[in-house]
Amino acid sequence: MSLLRRKTIVAQPPGQQLARTLGWPHLVALGVGAIVGTGILTLIGVGADRAGPAVIVSFVVAGAICACAALCYAEMATMIPASGSAYTYSYAVLGEVIAWVVGWSLILEYSLVVSTVAVGWSGYAVGFLKGLGIVVPTALANGPGLGGVVNLPAVGIIAVIAGLLMLGTRESARINTALVVLKIVTLALFVGVALPHFDVANLHPFTPYGYGSPTGEGGVKYGVMGAAAIIFFAFYGFDAISTAAEEAKNPERDLAIGIVGSMLACTAIYMIVAATAVGAVSYTRFGDSPEPLALILRELNQGRVATIVAAAAAVALPTVLLAFLYGQSRIFLVMARDGFLPASLARVSKRGTPVRITLMTAVFVAIIAGLAPLDVIASLANAGTLCAFVAVSACVLVSRRRDPGARRPFRTPLAWVVAPLAIAGCLYLFTSLQVVTQVAFVGWNAFGLLVYFLYARSRAQVAH
Ligand code: ALA
Repeated sequence: MSLLRRKTIVAQPPGQQLARTLGWPHLVALGVGAIVGTGILTLIGVGADRAGPAVIVSFVVAGAICACAALCYAEMATMIPASGSAYTYSYAVLGEVIAWVVGWSLILEYSLVVSTVAVGWSGYAVGFLKGLGIVVPTALANGPGLGGVVNLPAVGIIAVIAGLLMLGTRESARINTALVVLKIVTLALFVGVALPHFDVANLHPFTPYGYGSPTGEGGVKYGVMGAAAIIFFAFYGFDAISTAAEEAKNPERDLAIGIVGSMLACTAIYMIVAATAVGAVSYTRFGDSPEPLALILRELNQGRVATIVAAAAAVALPTVLLAFLYGQSRIFLVMARDGFLPASLARVSKRGTPVRITLMTAVFVAIIAGLAPLDVIASLANAGTLCAFVAVSACVLVSRRRDPGARRPFRTPLAWVVAPLAIAGCLYLFTSLQVVTQVAFVGWNAFGLLVYFLYARSRAQVAH
């Protein structure tokens, strides 16, 4: 039964509480800062390549599933406003072994998001430099899968962000808000310039690969659902808000507004950008570009605007890197605090930052970013996230059944419809991922369970 033992979450003693400085606008900005990134800027091309103009529907499907999961997150985050996100909720509600699998999946998610966003950043940074007449050789701008040797800019940006985190630079709410505004303005500029070129002819054929997820060459999944499984990447990051639970001024109300509000805002923005992109230029022209939005603008003879968009993307994208690399160390710290991972790795330096784990993670994600293709890493990050979303939705159902009288500052509306929809949607998206991704995900967790049974289980230090 020890596999199912649950953790009792206790409030931090008064002296150790963090200052409550964040209101709901900060939390929405934090969410949008972590959400808007490589998904809309780069993976939109991969999605269009796999679904055709119907990638717009893929955005709707992925957004709807994420919205259901976000409502469940809002309930759990306000009920258990402690660090650790899905791992902590699972430990409190579903039991130890499931919490372990969720934590192990979150490590995969957070690490690989950093690799993916770094590769996406590289695409726009290289495009921006090209606009200035500086050409980065193909061999140094792509991993071996795309005819290069190593994606050096991706490795470089990870080194910079990891360095900042190790020095103790915390994302200040003000800088974050400024960069979020820059991201939104950039997308608005794209829409403003490209939308007048909208041509219905570009939407035909609308679903060249159908609505399901048929397997194509190399095991790649096409169709609306195949694309939705990868576009899913664009929507998550709202869970980062739950890590700020201890710093929210009025967590009961503001966390819910932050999580649901940032999700809704991003869904609306994505719909407009996706419709503009596939309407302005045939999807066949930008599908495999490392910088699709800039390429569309160039195709429309707007080279100067393309350079501005590429520059703004390069400046603003690192907010996502910062949020996820920081979140990764938080998850790791909470797991180490529970006795599951070596305390020596989670040791905090004199500057108050977990230098060892940040360095270890940075080296791991930089190697992946330097060598692996974008869609492969993004898919695996999605698999980890889907697992966490299923767990959080299940937490809502289990805790409602087991403890109906518990205090729930935010209640998921129609929980018995919304949570099962989130679970079913996530499982369906998982089946729409490439088989190789599914196998890699299962392999990662099989290895994780080995670590759990041989090492971590006997070391759990949680007061049950
Ligand atoms: N949603 C984030 C992005 O698209 C991870 O970059």
